[in-house]
Amino acid sequence: MTIHVAVVVGSLRKGAFSRSIALAMKEIAAPRLELTIVEIGGLPLYNPDLESETPPEAWSRFRSEIAKSSAVLFVTPEYNRSIPGGLKNALDVGSRPYGKSAWSGKPAAIVSVSPGMLGAFGANHHLRQPLVFLDMPVLQQPEAYISKVGDLLDAEGKLTSDGTRDFLKTFIDKFADWIEATGTR
Ligand code: FNR
Repeated sequence: MTIHVAVVVGSLRKGAFSRSIALAMKEIAAPRLELTIVEIGGLPLYNPDLESETPPEAWSRFRSEIAKSSAVLFVTPEYNRSIPGGLKNALDVGSRPYGKSAWSGKPAAIVSVSPGMLGAFGANHHLRQPLVFLDMPVLQQPEAYISKVGDLLDAEGKLTSDGTRDFLKTFIDKFADWIEATGTR
């Protein structure tokens, strides 16, 4: 049975390395997991004053896309040793209104991506902190820190590294096992 997974990409940049990795993972994951990128770029900044019977349409659409998925994969770069602000905003938007978080209980996994050497370790681990509060059981092993990402993709953003493809396949298989073992609430 195919499991539907929402993919949240932390970068808003058109040619983002993180999006290229997410798209490579979509191919690798099929057919066991169906990965669908849920866009975060159009979400108004979270402001409780905008919560009402009719919150911003982009918030409602995002919340329902997350709510209907069985799990969430985060693929993110690192900004200033943490997660990009747009990703934090998406977490906040999905978490409200109070008591109706779209994230609650969804199994999750994190892939952090950097053109640098450290594989966005800081972003990877900062992201784990809100996911605890959001009650999302996060895959622990393997960890995925994709460093020197610019060397792994061609000019069109296609993954060219067989070693990385093999690693991402292992990661996806473990994530699928994790989703099945954890279930959703
Ligand atoms: C960065 N970058 C970056 N890289 C990193 O490894 N650690 C960091 O702390 C930061 N900080 C940072 C802050 C800001 C504001 C920007 C714009 C960039 C570089 C970053 O990894 C690089 O721009 C990536 O290409 C961003 O990922 P995408 O957009 O290609 O997915």
